[in-house]
Amino acid sequence: MLIRDWEGVALIIGAGDIGKSISDYLLNVSPNLDVIVCGRNLSKNNGIYLDLEDDHSFDSFEKEIALFQKPLRLVINTSGFLHSSSVKPEKRLSHINRSNIIKNFSINSIAPILIAKSIEKFIRPELPFSFASLSARVGSIGDNRLGGWYSYRASKAAQNQFLKTLSIEWSRKFPFSIVSILHPGTCDTKLSKPFQSGVPKQKLFTPSQSTEYLINIISEQKPSDSGKFLAWDRCIIPW
Ligand SMILES: NC(=O)c1ccc[n+]([C@@H]2O[C@H](COP(=O)([O-])OP(=O)(O)OC[C@H]3O[C@@H](n4cnc5c(N)ncnc54)[C@H](OP(=O)(O)O)[C@@H]3O)[C@@H](O)[C@H]2O)c1
Repeated sequence: MLIRDWEGVALIIGAGDIGKSISDYLLNVSPNLDVIVCGRNLSKNNGIYLDLEDDHSFDSFEKEIALFQKPLRLVINTSGFLHSSSVKPEKRLSHINRSNIIKNFSINSIAPILIAKSIEKFIRPELPFSFASLSARVGSIGDNRLGGWYSYRASKAAQNQFLKTLSIEWSRKFPFSIVSILHPGTCDTKLSKPFQSGVPKQKLFTPSQSTEYLINIISEQKPSDSGKFLAWDRCIIPW
């Protein structure tokens, strides 16, 4: 279906650089879609506060969705974690520690499947519905040639397994649903900023470039494609 014909409610989870760019893009191109950003750093009045590490926040998120008059048609999870002032991706085994692993898994693996659990009761089985979540190529086990970044890699691989499993359950419950696991390319955002030095300029996308690639992929997917792990250029990434 053409993006401009999408109708209903779209939730963009994660108010980061790619999340905000996707919401701006959809607001421009899809006049019949109510686009709502859900996250912690909300700049607009129509957002829903959601802290993905807080179960109470998920409860109030569900209460907000229950108030919608229009059907939920699209959910894009753009949240993610790679580094903070205290947590850095591991260069080697000696950098591994329990709290870093838990932090990465909490946001990159557990949050996406909890989002799916929260939205499930609002999916209308008779309507097309898309759930897309941003993973990362470095979460591919088959494509891991450089090593390092243990927690980020493993947490994205775990997200992929959660969402592949979800796609199988939802294909039975919701025959018009599509679950997509997407790699946005290397994109100039807060998340990638400290790691951009080795990236050739033409391979570093702006958030709006990644947005166009991702929205085009999401709009092309059919229910029979559900559960695929796809890169920005439509290539299937090995698990
Ligand atoms: N940029 C790249 O090159 C690249 C490459 C591959 C994959 N990805 C993936 O693409 C996705 C989008 O990342 P981005 O590049 O746009 O980075 P970003 O600007 O850092 O966005 C990530 C967002 O996740 C949100 N988030 C983290 N923990 C949260 C929590 N507990 N509750 C609610 N929101 C939370 C952050 O919110 P706060 O601002 O409140 O912390 C942030 O806005 C991520 O999944 C990332 O792994 C990015």
